Amino acid sequence: MTGGIRLILDQIGHAWGDLTVLDGIALTAEPGEVMAIIGPSGCGKSTLLNIAGGLLSPSSGTVRIEGAIADDCLNPLTYIFQDFSLLPWRSAQANIELVLEDKLPKPVRADRVREVLALTGLTEFADAWPRELSGGMKQRVGIARALAVRPACLLMDEPLSALDAQTRDLLLDEFVTIIDRAQTTTIYVTPLLSGQ
Ligand SMILES: Nc1ncnc2c1ncn2[C@@H]1O[C@H](COP(=O)(O)OP(=O)(O)OP(=O)(O)O)[C@@H](O)[C@H]1O
Ligand SMILES: [Mg+2]
Repeated sequence: MTGGIRLILDQIGHAWGDLTVLDGIALTAEPGEVMAIIGPSGCGKSTLLNIAGGLLSPSSGTVRIEGAIADDCLNPLTYIFQDFSLLPWRSAQANIELVLEDKLPKPVRADRVREVLALTGLTEFADAWPRELSGGMKQRVGIARALAVRPACLLMDEPLSALDAQTRDLLLDEFVTIIDRAQTTTIYVTPLLSGQ
């Protein structure tokens, strides 16, 4: 996997209409660093993450990426979503393969899918439909799909909050191991330190 990039948010401000949500936010996620953004509901975490990922233009300030993006990186920035966002009519492996279509030749694609399924402990569930998977397994497909593009930076918006407390704790441990192995710059949005 890649060594990651430096993601710099410089004096970010954002207003939704009259409501100023972010003001003068500055942060730098170093290559390979895992950074958590913690705060109560409505404080602007998703707004900030969406700005970091280029999904939303800030009212003020700039987002910069520094460092070389590895040749095998298919998408510099990628997301893991709170609600998993899997296509119900595609199997686990087909959901992952979707993000690789048009980017890799078919045999290489199959190898890559196998690799991330193994990394997330889902090899035996490659052909399972999303409805046959538990919440934790669905989110592991979400992680596998995000890692399949060998991102330089991984953005996660409360990826565990839809899960029960036990699954959350288990998956949090796995998350730490997987992200550590992938050496990807990571921003993790969470309302509480426990990973909720
Ligand atoms: N598209 C939008 N239009 C108008 N206001 C918005 C929009 N998105 C967010 N807001 C407002 O901005 C504020 C911050 O929202 P945001 O979604 O960033 O919070 P959050 O910290 O991610 O909360 P949560 O933990 O509940 O997900 C809230 O007051 C919200 O109502
Ligand atoms: Mg949010």
